Amino acid sequence: MARAKIALVGAGNIGGTLALLTAMKELGDVVLFDIAEGIPQGKALDIAQSGPVEGYDAAFVGANDYSAIAGADVVIVTAGVARKPGMSRDDLLGINIKVMNAVGQGIKENCPDAFVICITNPLDAMVWVLREACGLPHNRVVGMAGVLDSARFRHFLAEEMNVSVEDVSAFVLGGHGDTMVPMVRHSTVAGIPLPDLIEMGWIAKDKLDAIVDRTRNGGAEIVGLLKTGSAFYAPASSAIAMAESYLKDKKRVLPCAAYLEGQYGVQGLYVGVPTVIGANGVERIVELKLNAEEQTMLDHSVESVRGLVEACKTISADG
Ligand code: APR
Repeated sequence: MARAKIALVGAGNIGGTLALLTAMKELGDVVLFDIAEGIPQGKALDIAQSGPVEGYDAAFVGANDYSAIAGADVVIVTAGVARKPGMSRDDLLGINIKVMNAVGQGIKENCPDAFVICITNPLDAMVWVLREACGLPHNRVVGMAGVLDSARFRHFLAEEMNVSVEDVSAFVLGGHGDTMVPMVRHSTVAGIPLPDLIEMGWIAKDKLDAIVDRTRNGGAEIVGLLKTGSAFYAPASSAIAMAESYLKDKKRVLPCAAYLEGQYGVQGLYVGVPTVIGANGVERIVELKLNAEEQTMLDHSVESVRGLVEACKTISADG
């Protein structure tokens, strides 16, 4: 069988890491696309040259022309600008809307059958703009946020309880911002829910509250440390987990920004929810029964996503 083709639109920090992970996992051939001349070509050549050492076989192409992404099976979008200290994800809105419109057009013309994963921030709004611009079915365009936010939550929990990250399962609902809803009741260590672990003395309630807060601000913490950009290793790993589930039809249950049509009482917006990702893209949206407190937090998060999407519509209408 021919190798899958994976197009990475944006060859910056996340794009380069995505290319390396794609190679290490032998998911397919890689096209790195960017508007910056030389960057995608240089990264493609560099990563190709680690192939003989690492032992992966894949073709790597760098390009500044959208024709290079023709026929891609998966497109992962990181094009745009990243945050600097003091900037919120929402500050990126104006610039990144224009970028999403251009990328969407490139996808529409060159690979309309692809599975598209958006990473560009502000995520929940940018994935909406990208979907509008490319016109693909909603189940084939998703946003990467929940896997990353959950991974941050899992990392902090594992560290606090001194257990393997592998045995910590956690997920986060809602928008990819400080209104996200880490789901304490549904997060477990080896199947034991966090409220039980508090009773068992494995974690103190105040420690858990601090971890929930730290998860919500996980991206800003890294921006504050790096000073010249935002997180890239964990975002890349998270998007690769989604791409792999699609390419191998694994049907993993992964939280991601999916288009809701009535689920959780939300109509016509991309919001972070657990989904099943397989060969048909987002194959199912997992609709959990929330308690009143969780529903209130989710509603608040959805309102902030709605505000951003409305702002996008206004900015787009103004040209
Ligand atoms: N088309 C293609 N590429 C573009 C365009 C465009 N119109 N505009 C900018 N780019 C490229 C830049 O040249 C740069 O190489 O996008 C790349 C972005 O890379 P970085 O600045 O290194 O940003 P990165 O850390 O990879 O994050 C990308 O993901 O998590 C989000 O908030 C983050 O929105 C940001 C995005």
